[in-house]
Amino acid sequence: MVIASVPEKQVKIGPTQLLINNEWVNSVSDRRFETINPATGETICEVAEADAPDVDKAVQAARNAFTTGEWSKMSATRRGELLYKLADLIEQNIDELARLETLDNGKPLSDSLNADLRLVIACYRYYAGWADKVQGKTIPINGPYFCYTRHEPVGVVGQIIPWNFPLLMQAWKLGPALATGNTVVMKTAEQTPLSALRVGELIIEAGFPPGVVNILSGYGPTAGAAISHHMDIDKVAFTGSTEVGHLIMEAAAKSNLKRVTLELGGKSPNIVFADADMDEAIQGAHNALFFNQGQCCNAGSRLFVEEKCYDEFVAKSVERAKQRVVGNPFDSNTQQGPQVDKDQFDKVMSYIESGMREGAQMLCGGNQVGDRGYFIQPTVFADVRNDMKIAQEEIFGPVMSIIKFKDIDEVIHLANTTMYGLAAGVWTKDITKALAIANNVRAGTVWVNCYHVFDAAAPFGGFKQSGMGRELGEYCLEHYTEIKTVTVKL
Ligand code: NAI
Ligand code: MG
Repeated sequence: MVIASVPEKQVKIGPTQLLINNEWVNSVSDRRFETINPATGETICEVAEADAPDVDKAVQAARNAFTTGEWSKMSATRRGELLYKLADLIEQNIDELARLETLDNGKPLSDSLNADLRLVIACYRYYAGWADKVQGKTIPINGPYFCYTRHEPVGVVGQIIPWNFPLLMQAWKLGPALATGNTVVMKTAEQTPLSALRVGELIIEAGFPPGVVNILSGYGPTAGAAISHHMDIDKVAFTGSTEVGHLIMEAAAKSNLKRVTLELGGKSPNIVFADADMDEAIQGAHNALFFNQGQCCNAGSRLFVEEKCYDEFVAKSVERAKQRVVGNPFDSNTQQGPQVDKDQFDKVMSYIESGMREGAQMLCGGNQVGDRGYFIQPTVFADVRNDMKIAQEEIFGPVMSIIKFKDIDEVIHLANTTMYGLAAGVWTKDITKALAIANNVRAGTVWVNCYHVFDAAAPFGGFKQSGMGRELGEYCLEHYTEIKTVTVKL
């Protein structure tokens, strides 16, 4: 779809307070913090800053909703209807939400609209459909008994989300939690609080009872840590860095053994064989790395290219990267906006320096674009070795690292030489090679002759230090339910 450029001044800012018990409130401390427009570095507005006392209030509201409120008695079908209604309301406000997402995050408006928002709406609809289809079993145990299982909600769920896909991460978390009857205390990322709060308004409008969804803006070490340590939160679902993933598990272990699901970082191998359709592989590898300013946990950030086609592939990939249009995310022809904030900008620039220091060949990019905001040139490194820092650590920016390989055994070994295991890609016309990669690369998702294909029905998550548990699809539901075995004497 082609979208018109819009002036950023036309973006409507929604609520900026905390959503607790279906009411908009200031934080207990009355503190607020600024959220910025990464395209300019200017402040958009201030939002209420939650800390431990606000988490306590939100957990109390969520607990009441879970144990005694209207939600606790609501039929599964009705829960599904509310989720369908929410999806409809998001669809009715799609332009407004896409603009708000672009303003706060910096991603191109065409991506907000055609990628993020489409997937958000599909995700809510998908889990709306599951609401009345989650069911237990009857089990033929020995003796005069009737034995069955119930799949009950886990309870009050803490959800901590990142800034790279604010609305989509909100949907991945709320969809399955609400379909299965949990209540939620969600903390958004401090870089991008605005769009989730606007969805909070739509959640109230859809008719979700008070306390079912509570949304807090705030920082990780304060509000986030208060969630992960809380004694009355039954589960925490987290998406973000592997470093913080460790802290979340530690907090769960030290508090109440709350259930933990983690969707963490990646350093995903994207493998190109010489027999691949070269044009498709070049374009596919380009998107796999540069989409969303390179800020994807599943970015194809270790690009392995077979020796036989290496020189051609590298030359054409550099040409392709040079054509990428970087600029104002509200312009309709922009393909790449700014990195989300100064910290991320500095982090990416330091990896570019590291790549040069360690002897990789920088063939294009490497600099800031313009002199305000956090734009970085699409950057391509060739002759990268798998043991370099830029091949082992998550850069989370528009920096492509190309590594040469000789044969399939070598590339499988290199692909698995990483602490991560989130995703992988393979480009080849040979089905045997494709399946050898699919079977032997230790990753939660493998894409064959495609990349970044997401669907609400297909599970997503990591092997190794890329996380635990799966989001999306039917598999996600088990992480939001407890199994209860009931045995009745006959
Ligand atoms: P982060 O892991 O610090 O932040 C993600 C979320 O966790 C935010 O809501 C944050 O407030 C919260 N958080 C931070 N510290 C916490 C704590 N001690 N307890 C509870 N919650 C906490 O990630 P950050 O600093 O934004 O980005 C750093 C790097 O992490 C990125 O450069 C990237 O490599 C990776 N990352 C990966 C993401 C993914 O999709 N898997 C998303 C965002 C970042
Ligand atoms: Mg922001």
